[in-house]
Amino acid sequence: MRILAIESSCDESAAAVLDRREGLLAHQLFSQIDLHRVYGGVVPELASRDHVRRLLPLVRTTLAEANTAPEALDGIAYTAGPGLIGALLTGAALARSLGYAWKKPTVGVHHLEGHLLAPLLEAEPPPFPHVALLVSGGHTLLVEVQGIGRYTLLGETRDDAAGEAFDKAAKLLGLPYPGGPELARLASGGRVGAVHLPRPMLDRAGLEFSFSGLKTAVLHAVSEKPLTDARKADIAHAVQDAIVDTLVVKALRALEDTGLDALVVSGGVGANLKLRERMVAAAGKQGVRVYYPRVEFCTDNAAMIAVAGLARLEAGQHDGLGIQARARWPLASLPAVPAVS
Ligand SMILES: Nc1ncnc2c1ncn2[C@@H]1O[C@H](COP(=O)(O)OP(=O)(O)OP(=O)(O)O)[C@@H](O)[C@H]1O
Ligand SMILES: [Mg+2]
Repeated sequence: MRILAIESSCDESAAAVLDRREGLLAHQLFSQIDLHRVYGGVVPELASRDHVRRLLPLVRTTLAEANTAPEALDGIAYTAGPGLIGALLTGAALARSLGYAWKKPTVGVHHLEGHLLAPLLEAEPPPFPHVALLVSGGHTLLVEVQGIGRYTLLGETRDDAAGEAFDKAAKLLGLPYPGGPELARLASGGRVGAVHLPRPMLDRAGLEFSFSGLKTAVLHAVSEKPLTDARKADIAHAVQDAIVDTLVVKALRALEDTGLDALVVSGGVGANLKLRERMVAAAGKQGVRVYYPRVEFCTDNAAMIAVAGLARLEAGQHDGLGIQARARWPLASLPAVPAVS
């Protein structure tokens, strides 16, 4: 089976072609960061309009790169949610229209399932069952993954997502959008222990997260003393340290609770090198192996949507003539995909 996948849930337009036997044949992405930077965040209406302009040319060039004619496709997958509703609709309408014109089954994919399954694209994919820490711009979840479509939520954030915490702290430090990677860069020049920030929820049992208090603490740290470049770097270091500490402790706790020995870390914050380093070291001590998608597949992309879509289309799941687009969509409501031996 060979499929085309389209992603348009937020501010990245992306397309990919994935073949069951030959693997990932092509993936392309257009980031709208330059479009939104002047506003300091994503403007939903501008995002939708730009997807309309970018997606079809991206599909053309991705199919060409994969040396694949539409007739050679066995199906089409698109991101159906959660995300910005207008942005989702552009991808859904395009995918459904192509499916109709080319007479191919079309399936709407859960964006977070895409993030969870992204490490399956790597040479050494994670085994099932495993624990997944999904840390992105909009979500912070610990999930027990028994198989594709078999997800048990173990814990999530009560307020801000980890990526959102990175971005908001970055904004308070005057860094350009999107702040997460910028803050991580700045943090490498900061001093250990120069600034101390709270580790929310660490002292409490359970697998819930809370990051909203962190931005108040950052606000205090920013206004307490003159904000020199050195002070900025120290605060950035402390922010990254507090977030990474919290994620590592809770992920290890989830592994202990479930008795599992494989951990997936996915989503945009999974690209953070300090998190990768600390998680691998801490998990290694407990005999746990950590699996990551390659850095470019941590943030939004269509390759991960293709992985989830291929599994679902192979299992005979598709949407008929309907278009699915859901701003909110619980992960636990997805149908399971039977395991193939
Ligand atoms: N190196 C990094 N360090 C810290 N944060 C990072 C890094 N790289 C990316 N991020 C953060 O990852 C987030 C983007 O990730 P992603 O694209 O997966 O999220 P999203 O698609 O916006 O949200 P969701 O998937 O929940 O809908 C942003 O908050 C960004 O700041
Ligand atoms: Mg995402």
